[in-house]
Amino acid sequence: MDATTDKAMLFEPYTLRGVTLPNRIVLAPMQMYSAQDGFATDWHLHHLAKFAMGGFGTVFTEGLCVEERGRNTYGDMGVWSDDFIPSLRRLADTLRAHGAVPAAQILHTGPKACRQRPWEGYGMLGENEAARGELPWTPIAPSAESKNRGWANPEPVSQEDIPRLVDAFGAAARRCAEAGFDVLDIHGAHGYLIHSFYSPLGNDLDGEYGGGREQRMRFVLDVADACRANWPDDKPIFYRLSCVDGVEEGGWGMDDTVVLARELQRHGIDLIDCSSGGIGRFPTAQIIARQPLFQVPYAERVRRDCPGMPTMAVGLITEPSQAEHILRNGQADLVMLAREALFNPHWPLQAAVELGGDEQFNKVWPPQYGWWLYRRARSLHLAGRK
Ligand SMILES: Cc1cc2nc3c(=O)[nH]c(=O)nc-3n(C[C@H](O)[C@H](O)[C@H](O)COP(=O)(O)O)c2cc1C
Repeated sequence: MDATTDKAMLFEPYTLRGVTLPNRIVLAPMQMYSAQDGFATDWHLHHLAKFAMGGFGTVFTEGLCVEERGRNTYGDMGVWSDDFIPSLRRLADTLRAHGAVPAAQILHTGPKACRQRPWEGYGMLGENEAARGELPWTPIAPSAESKNRGWANPEPVSQEDIPRLVDAFGAAARRCAEAGFDVLDIHGAHGYLIHSFYSPLGNDLDGEYGGGREQRMRFVLDVADACRANWPDDKPIFYRLSCVDGVEEGGWGMDDTVVLARELQRHGIDLIDCSSGGIGRFPTAQIIARQPLFQVPYAERVRRDCPGMPTMAVGLITEPSQAEHILRNGQADLVMLAREALFNPHWPLQAAVELGGDEQFNKVWPPQYGWWLYRRARSLHLAGRK
C-alpha cells in the first residue's frame, strides 16, 4: 500500500450523481433511542457534529422512522410528518458546515417495533414504561407470527396497507430532501419491514407481494420507486440490504441479493449498503461468525456480479489499513464505521496520520487542533516515545 495519505484511497473523493463525497469514510446510521416524540434534541446535534469534525466525509443520521408505528422504541427519531423538517434541517446544515456530506437513513422496523430502549432491557414494553405513558402498540409485518423470539405477534399487512406504507417511504424521502440532506439510505435490512418482505423467513403473504422471490422483491422495488420519485435526480440513494439471512437453510442468500441489486439498479438505486441477518434470534447472520470484516465479502460479491453498482462495506472495520485494503482490493467503494466511531469519533483524522505520517496534522486536521498536535508528535518523537 502506498504510504502517503495524499495517495490513500480512503481520502479520495467519490462522486455519485451530482454529489461528491470528500472521502470514502462514512459514519453508519446509529439509533440513539434518545429522541423526544421523534424529534432530535441538542444531544443529537452535538453527537453527529462530532463525527463531521472528526473527518467522516459522509455522516448518516440514525434511521428516521417513516411512520409512528414503525418505531423500534419511544426514543426513535421520526420523519413521519412535515413537522420534523426544521429540526432535521438543523442537523443537515450543521454537518455541512463542518465539511461532511449530510446523509439520512429512513426505516420502518415492521415486526421489530415496540421495544424498550436497549439499556432498559430491549424487551417488550411493560409496567414501568406504561407508568410514564409509553404504552405498547401492535407492530405490522408481512406475517401474522413473530419470527424473532421474544417479539410480539404482528398484525399482518393487508392489501390496503401496502400502498400506504410505500407512500410513507416516499413522503419520508421528500422530507429528507427538503431538510437538505444530500444522500438517502433506505433501510432494507436487519429483520425490519422491508427485509421481512423479501426474505422467505419473514414473509407469509400470498399473491402479488408474497410467495416466490419476484413477488417478495416487489415491495422493495416499490419503495425504491417511491423514494426515487420524491428525491432529487442529482442526489444518490443507497439501499441497505441483509445480503444473507445466515440461517442453515431456507433463507435469503447471496445469489438472491445479486438478482435484487440488479433490479434496484434499474429502479434508480445508486449503491448497495451491504449488511446481513436480523430475522431470528440474533441481530446479524446467525451462522456467520462476527469477526473483523465479516460482511466485506457481500460488498465484494455485489460489486463483482452487478457491474456498475457500487457497494459499501460495514461491520467490524476498525483499522485504517483494513479499510484502505478493502478499497484497493476493489471489494467496496465506501467503508462505513459504527461502533468504532463511537469509540473514536476522530477515526478518519487519526487514519490520515497513521497512513500518511505527521504531516497530515497540517493537511487534513482542523488547524485549531492540527497545529498543536504536529508539535506534540515531534516532541514525542524526540523523546523516543513514538
Ligand atoms: C448504537 C447502534 C445503533 C444502530 N442503529 C442503526 C440504525 O439506525 N440503522 C441501521 O441501519 N443500522 C444501525 N446499526 C447498525 C450499524 O449501522 C452497523 O451496521 C453495525 O453496527 C456494524 O458496524 P460496526 O461493526 O462498525 O459497529 C446500529 C448500530 C449501533 C451500534
